[in-house]
Amino acid sequence: MPREGMREVADVLGLTTAEVEAVATFYTMLKLQPSGRYVISMCTNPSCSLLGGRRLYERARGILGEASERVTDDGLFTVEEEECLAACDAAPVVTVNYTYYDRVTEEQLDAMIAGIREGRVPEASRGGVPGDLRDVSRLLAGEGSLPGPKLQQVAAKGENRA
Ligand code: FES
Repeated sequence: MPREGMREVADVLGLTTAEVEAVATFYTMLKLQPSGRYVISMCTNPSCSLLGGRRLYERARGILGEASERVTDDGLFTVEEEECLAACDAAPVVTVNYTYYDRVTEEQLDAMIAGIREGRVPEASRGGVPGDLRDVSRLLAGEGSLPGPKLQQVAAKGENRA
């Protein structure tokens, strides 16, 4: 989001541009620059790093190149190094468009990247297959439906609690 956009949001909400920028730069799910259709986030905090998280991150960057820090040339991937994803018991954890893949091995990472390139996103550890970032962003904004029956069940339970 360019600075003019933050200024417009600030005007609408009655905030300062600095307040909007503070929120926008704190949450990694808010993208301030174009991202690939699939954002691969890799936890490199201690639990995950001890079990190979850092190696996974470096491997992904090696396979997808320096451009993956922003967007790969094919527009498919952005690779992010993340702080704890709050699933330490499933380390090393990788998310694709915020859907969790637990205890990921280097071979699984390779297969994940190859599958996405071929249009076959692998099923997540807890069920479901993430859509592309645009679809998932709409979902996170409260629009659309979840991509798999297990995720839909989880969402339904959450709605029942509200
Ligand atoms: S340290 Fe990786 S999920 Fe907590």
